[in-house]
Amino acid sequence: MARAPFITFEGVEGAGKTTLARSLADWLQRQGTSVLLTREPGGSDLGKQLRPMILNQPLDAYTELFLLLADRRQHTLQRILPALEQGIWVLCDRYADSTLVYQGYGRGLDLDLLRYLNTLATNALCPDLTVLIDLPVEIALTRANDPNRFEAEAAEFHERIRAGYLREAANAPDRYVILSGTETPETLLANLQAVIQQRFLNLQQENPVAGRITE
Ligand code: TYD
Repeated sequence: MARAPFITFEGVEGAGKTTLARSLADWLQRQGTSVLLTREPGGSDLGKQLRPMILNQPLDAYTELFLLLADRRQHTLQRILPALEQGIWVLCDRYADSTLVYQGYGRGLDLDLLRYLNTLATNALCPDLTVLIDLPVEIALTRANDPNRFEAEAAEFHERIRAGYLREAANAPDRYVILSGTETPETLLANLQAVIQQRFLNLQQENPVAGRITE
């Protein structure tokens, strides 16, 4: 059976990921596509309990990592993989790249270790497309409006996050699309729709079983 596309949204705080993911989900649903819109941390039942624990108290960097990974594995097994296997598109607001970038480039944990642990946590699931909304940190921080301990980090932390995302995107240019967060929400959506049409919808029209096939 054809597996549906798995699309993740990444970027610094205040970049506009959540709004873009929601408007893409609305657009897909209007065309009759089944969509699961979800997020991390907090996408699994366990994660709903973990999210405030992760966001609202000081934690050691590894403790933070293990909580995020526990949420990711549970979320992947409980919600994301079953949806994809049923042909439901999954749009996820932050996923494994957030861990590489925030815990790796941001907190300084080893990137190879994080890649290995992410492979375990995701059951080796990799997004078909990762939408990176890039935005200068000084603009992002004036927009961020959900105070948590990540947003409270110094500007240098957020600069490392931005640079980390750009480096990861350069390492995986086929998976990432980079959009500018200085665009209006309407332009961002139109640009993303063009990418989605080209990568997934045209392909499906030409070949109804195109895409990744589960074994
Ligand atoms: P959230 O309120 O969802 O932020 P945003 O609206 O920017 O997505 O809070 C999630 C925070 O958790 C965000 O600051 C990034 C951080 N985070 C990590 O550090 N590592 C991760 O793996 C994930 C998923 C999130």
